[in-house]
Amino acid sequence: MQDRYGHRISYLRVSITDRCNERCGYCMPQELQEWLPRHEILSYEETLRIMRIAVALGVSKVRITGGEPLTRRGIIDFVRQIPAIRQITSIGLSTNGTLLAREIAPGETMAKALCDAGVQSLNISLDTLDPEIYSQITGRDFHAQVLAGIDAAIGAGFEQIKMNAVLMRGRNENQLLPLIEFAAARKLLLRFIELMPVSTTEVLNESNFMSVMEAKRLVESAYGSLIPDTEFRTNGPAIYYQIPGRPQRVGFIGAMTNMHFCENCNKLRLTCDGKLRPCLGSYLEFDIMQPLRAGASDEELKQFFLNVVDRKPREHDFRHNYQPNRKMVAIGG
Ligand code: 5AD
Ligand code: SF4
Repeated sequence: MQDRYGHRISYLRVSITDRCNERCGYCMPQELQEWLPRHEILSYEETLRIMRIAVALGVSKVRITGGEPLTRRGIIDFVRQIPAIRQITSIGLSTNGTLLAREIAPGETMAKALCDAGVQSLNISLDTLDPEIYSQITGRDFHAQVLAGIDAAIGAGFEQIKMNAVLMRGRNENQLLPLIEFAAARKLLLRFIELMPVSTTEVLNESNFMSVMEAKRLVESAYGSLIPDTEFRTNGPAIYYQIPGRPQRVGFIGAMTNMHFCENCNKLRLTCDGKLRPCLGSYLEFDIMQPLRAGASDEELKQFFLNVVDRKPREHDFRHNYQPNRKMVAIGG
């Protein structure tokens, strides 16, 4: 699948729930939250069918997201079915980390079960090492649980574990160095992400926004000039640098300030209520659940995908007139 701007689509992000056990202000601003009723959420079978269609059109990497994907019942059995889709070469999952250490069977953590089920790459969100600030950011006191979750993930044997920290002035700029040291000690790949106005426009304002340039400067004031590592890439738009004198790399995701951010976009998103979104930062979305439940054939669904890809914008619209119509928690990061 290729869009009119030459973006080749190989990566599908699949949200399986709009629910979350945390309340991060940048994702889900109001405490009062109405979850979608169950019948408005794609069943796992429906999700797998859409994944197969996407794979037939060239998708080879998938990432499971939410909400918090680990809050949905049956997640392990669902993930176990993904490797059966042969052409999928990379299975990832993004989580807030709070449930990774949970024992789901005697001696077996959620993290281990996910790894055994076929998840290769795990992304864990952690914006701070300070439990107090963690609670302010997420609305919950789960800091210790996340740290235990990270340990459980390390013990489980994933091919890759990334740690994502959203940059917020006045909240975590003093945490960049501690996070780097934390990641170094555990050999995790840390990325700093610019705050995006994804949930409501009020999320981002001039006083809380911190650019990746500033973050990079802060990091360099402690470690010296970072060495660009242009060869190293993951699936996304992060730019990686090596810390001088160390094997450690750090990534910067400059969604707001990097003007080339969208050039190599390879993504499509499926929301848990069955909408295909060609871009996180565009209001465009297309309801694939409707034709799916009306009995559409594989051929018809393929054509649906191709039409969505054809509407993929050249670049996201966060900087101009983006009008959020959905909270981040209901899109899937
Ligand atoms: N801006 C940037 N990143 C965000 N995330 C959630 N909301 C936002 C936002 N408004 C991040 C989470 C997690 C990933 C799934 O998306 O922190 O790392
Ligand atoms: Fe939940 Fe992640 Fe959104 Fe926070 S950012 S509310 S942990 S889905």
